[in-house]
Amino acid sequence: MNTIPFLSPLLVAVSLIVAGAGAGDETTTCPGAPSMTVESACRNVSHTQAMYDACKGALAGVPNPMSDHDATVYALAAARGAMASADATVVAANERVTYNGSLSGEEKGAYEGCVEAYAAAEHAMGAVLNKLGACSFGGGLADDYMSGLLAVESCRDRVIKLPASPLYAMVLVDRNKVGLALFLGKLLGI
Ligand SMILES: *[C@@H]1O[C@H](CO)[C@@H](O)[C@H](O)[C@H]1NC(C)=O
Ligand SMILES: *[C@@H]1O[C@H](CO)[C@@H](O)[C@H](O)[C@H]1NC(C)=O
Repeated sequence: MNTIPFLSPLLVAVSLIVAGAGAGDETTTCPGAPSMTVESACRNVSHTQAMYDACKGALAGVPNPMSDHDATVYALAAARGAMASADATVVAANERVTYNGSLSGEEKGAYEGCVEAYAAAEHAMGAVLNKLGACSFGGGLADDYMSGLLAVESCRDRVIKLPASPLYAMVLVDRNKVGLALFLGKLLGI
């Protein structure tokens, strides 16, 4: 699962312009969730500098990052960011399939497969958002994260076989964002 190295901060930053962290939930508190600063949350979940940078970027929209927040706030922001990023990729894939008449059959098949995989990914991440919002950390939350991750990876495995696809970088960013969301979710003990 960790065979794909974390993306360069540049690509991550580019996609953050599209995604942005979810605001408005900075007061979320859930019983039993740990409380920490953005800094300690990102230190906790990052094994590489690129991942740390991606984490700080994903949580850049959290107000008062130097104060302790319920870790649910970070999990929510990261899951929303992953959703927004995936949305943009689906739009790009759909545009290609719909408007580019010069796609090879292989490309068309890959993009259509990705649109389908992303529907599953977004369904799973939607369930994650609902469960986080309801402080429901059992009830299959960990499975929902994994379903989201595996769905995005199934798209990655399709586009990786194409000669050169502009979608590949987007899918890698999405995969890293869902992975980051999962790691931040793990702060909640899932
Ligand atoms: C990460 O957070 C968890 C949950 O609060 C805690 O048990 C663990 O010690 C932390 N790890 C690090 C490296 O800070
Ligand atoms: C359409 O698809 C072909 C084949 O992948 C590609 O070379 C071309 O750049 C695409 N055109 C646009 C406008 O994206």
